[in-house]
Amino acid sequence: MGLTRVPGLLFGGDYNPEQWPEEVWAEDVGLMAEAGVNLVTVAVFSWSRLETAPGVYDFGWLDRILDLLHAHGIAVDLATATATPPPWLVRRHPEIRPVDAAGTRLEFGSRQGYCPSSPVFRAATVRLARAMAERYRDHPALVMWHVGNEYADHTAECFCEESARDFRRWLQHRYRTLDGLNDAWGTSCWGQHYTDWTQPAPPRKAPGPVNPAQLLDWRRFSSDALLACFEAERAVLKEVTPDLPVTTNFMSILRDLDYWKWAAAEDFVSDDAYPDPADPRAHLKAALSYDLMRSLKRRPWLLLESAPGAVSWRRVNVPKEPGVMRLHSLQALAHGSDGAMFFQWRQARYGPEKFHSALLPHGGTDTRQWRETLALGADLRRLAGVAGGTTRAEVALLLDWDSWWGLEAPESLPSDRLRLHELLLSWYAPLHARGIAVDLAPPDRDLSGYRLVIAPNLYLCTPEQAAALAAFPGELVVGPFSGVVDTADRVHPGGAPGPLRELLGLRVEEPWPIPDGVTREIVTTDGTALTVRTWSEWLTLDDARAVAHHRGGPLDGRPAVTRRTRPDGGAVRYLGCLPEDPAPLLAEALAAAGVTGLDLPAGVEACRRGRHLFLLNHGTEPATVRLPGPGTDLLTGRPLSGSVSLAPRDVVVLKTEPKP
Ligand code: GAL
Repeated sequence: MGLTRVPGLLFGGDYNPEQWPEEVWAEDVGLMAEAGVNLVTVAVFSWSRLETAPGVYDFGWLDRILDLLHAHGIAVDLATATATPPPWLVRRHPEIRPVDAAGTRLEFGSRQGYCPSSPVFRAATVRLARAMAERYRDHPALVMWHVGNEYADHTAECFCEESARDFRRWLQHRYRTLDGLNDAWGTSCWGQHYTDWTQPAPPRKAPGPVNPAQLLDWRRFSSDALLACFEAERAVLKEVTPDLPVTTNFMSILRDLDYWKWAAAEDFVSDDAYPDPADPRAHLKAALSYDLMRSLKRRPWLLLESAPGAVSWRRVNVPKEPGVMRLHSLQALAHGSDGAMFFQWRQARYGPEKFHSALLPHGGTDTRQWRETLALGADLRRLAGVAGGTTRAEVALLLDWDSWWGLEAPESLPSDRLRLHELLLSWYAPLHARGIAVDLAPPDRDLSGYRLVIAPNLYLCTPEQAAALAAFPGELVVGPFSGVVDTADRVHPGGAPGPLRELLGLRVEEPWPIPDGVTREIVTTDGTALTVRTWSEWLTLDDARAVAHHRGGPLDGRPAVTRRTRPDGGAVRYLGCLPEDPAPLLAEALAAAGVTGLDLPAGVEACRRGRHLFLLNHGTEPATVRLPGPGTDLLTGRPLSGSVSLAPRDVVVLKTEPKP
């Protein structure tokens, strides 16, 4: 069963008919049909056009466009339109506008102008969602619901009094008593002891650093507050249309929202991805985020938005060169998306996004963009058999939002240079370069299906998580500054690695961050020298063995990387530093785990999905790839064996024969 009842791969994008005279609609749907568009997202920002006064609905235009789309065989991803409260609501209830950390209430005039904790806002969204669900429950075009839009994009948190009240309720639920809160927040530090439940507040802008435990709870709360908005709408949609899938578009690797928790509330995961064409690592970052999307529910997901070319919100908005829209779209398919959807269908004439690219550009159909749109539609039809395919990964990278929030708390850590996304990328890059499939996983998931598990960082680590890691029988690699604090950001007794101490067989006596621009060197036992930046640690070993030592610098001769063999499982490696390129250390762990990769030219990505091997040349030079076996390229129909040559930006999707 696919994500929706639309067969094959989904192709289309955000469609904003309310921005165009109705005469244009007929041309739109005709061109959609010509391009093979089979799904459009409608009504994302149209609350003010759908509910023109409290409880007064104008569904006429939406009825007409849904009918027209259906008549042309195009299905609809209907947004609940709640991402932007209308002027009348804001006028009546100015208190629903969000307040920033410095206490400024933001004005109407953009989007996401709401406080997530506002009961008025939530009630209004639920009312609109119900009205829409009741109106369109039997509409044949409707195949899925799209709640809100990119939660946390502009409004990830709100510091108003309503939010403060909601935060206190959340805290009371978590800690029950003020003693519990005082203890968790360590309020004896800097005289913050609370004596009444009216006192704890959001971490608003203060004269100096705010309490990091308070900030950690605030991040948890803010993710939950937005999730409650989503869930309130979802509940109504499920009540009225129980058989229609409900999703909301994620924003790739986003720190603000705990996507493990969010994904559990969705029927399927959908994502918006905007790799920057000017960033040489764009495809790497995209691959990592797509693997996260695939891992969130361990099933196919949907790329719900991407840019056909340039975006409009970077300082310089570089277009995608010919072939790159196709390349990026097929990359998402390779990593588990069941379609390629775009922002947006027709390029706007007005508003902040009038220069954002679209499948149908200002210039119309006699354009490079439109020709690429048509070609992509044809390619997606050729690849219909990819839909539903899954990926089996033998390697997992651990990712935990609590830990991420703790690690990136401002002004309270030994260094602010440990950034989780970069740490993930540094391990992901060498795996990706060899075409090794990677899942992302939370530390408390059953990891027994993997051969190698890498925890780039687990700053916050609970005894339960440590026990889960200890129970994992395969090869394990743990990155620096792990096992430092508990769930309340309190340093574990005895210091790092806290609950991981026995598993790793060592103690971290002191973190030893490295200043910007300075490099250090470590040498492995076989004599390989590696450059280290940003971070090192003074390690003292219990029953681990050093496999690399520092050479020179303040830690000269001390252990830098360790290995502990477990009597009943694979080895555990710990890095008390950040090698610029961890590939040599990784190679050893991969070999021990029995995980093999492919020999790929630089810039070529290889990714398996079901019986399909995707080869994507992200480089600007032709590349030749040795094939692991024969098959047929679904994009050209060519039978292939031996090796294949890929032009710059080209893609091969090799369908391999099932093993007899
Ligand atoms: C997304 C958003 C869309 C559109 C797009 C432009 O963040 O969901 O509505 O603004 O960016 O790139």
